[in-house]
Amino acid sequence: MTDPVEAPAEVRPRIHIEKVVKSFSGRVVVDVDEMVLGEHPIEGLIGPNGAGKTTLMRMIMHSTALDQGRITLLPSGAEGEQIELSQLPTHHMASHGVVKSNQVIMDFEKLTIWDSLLLALAGAKYEQPLRIFSESDLFQESAETAREFLDFFSFGDPFGHAESAGEKKLLDIVRCLMLKPKFLLLDEPTAGLPDETTDKVMQVVRELAVSGTSIVIVEHDLNVIWSLSDQVHFMAEGSVVMRGDPKTIRENHTVVEKYLGEGHV
Ligand SMILES: Nc1ncnc2c1ncn2[C@@H]1O[C@H](COP(=O)(O)OP(=O)(O)O)[C@@H](O)[C@H]1O
Ligand SMILES: [Mg+2]
Repeated sequence: MTDPVEAPAEVRPRIHIEKVVKSFSGRVVVDVDEMVLGEHPIEGLIGPNGAGKTTLMRMIMHSTALDQGRITLLPSGAEGEQIELSQLPTHHMASHGVVKSNQVIMDFEKLTIWDSLLLALAGAKYEQPLRIFSESDLFQESAETAREFLDFFSFGDPFGHAESAGEKKLLDIVRCLMLKPKFLLLDEPTAGLPDETTDKVMQVVRELAVSGTSIVIVEHDLNVIWSLSDQVHFMAEGSVVMRGDPKTIRENHTVVEKYLGEGHV
């Protein structure tokens, strides 16, 4: 007999993608009929170059407009309504807890590392992020979080500008981790980072997953995917061609080798 008071399975924040299409110059690059992200704590999104992984992530953030379709954030069991992300401007995503790191790194030249972190924290919470510099409680709280992350990840000079490509990449990722998002999308986070830094990033990713964040990670280094993810979505030519746990995906040599070449499983 089943126990009538058994607690319901934990429900995490999920992203529901429905009939989403994107073309560039008449060529369809994303065509996903239906996909749910976030049913597992850490999910991998893999597939060959040009499969549409980055475009799909950008569409979730609404930084690339959809030609068709709908993308919705479904809340975790504990909270209210669903939010139609495909109706929201990109700069409102963080205030709904949806955050993405970038494959190609933005220009951080105008801001110091410290200021970028403070602004990211303020921007995720307030319509007018500059309030952080005039309200001391807000400043103290944010500064504490920023300091905690700066202590853990090593930057050359936190009060200077991010210098190397690796440091800019790390800054972009730390900005995302620090927000403790509901839903975190990471687009090739480890490319260009030293192994030791990658390990630290993955440690924080795991901690976030344990505390309830849903994480989707696009990664070239499949060892990261096999060891970290609970579920894998395999994209090719704009669509999801296979999904399953890492073991199931690895066992499907035909698909993996067709798209990624030999030696990946
Ligand atoms: N802004 C753009 N303009 C034109 N073509 C684009 C643009 N962004 C991506 N593409 C094309 O869309 C396809 C999918 O790209 P992308 O989403 O970056 O793939 P992935 O991240 O899986 O490598 C590629 O053929 C790429 O050249
Ligand atoms: Mg990409």
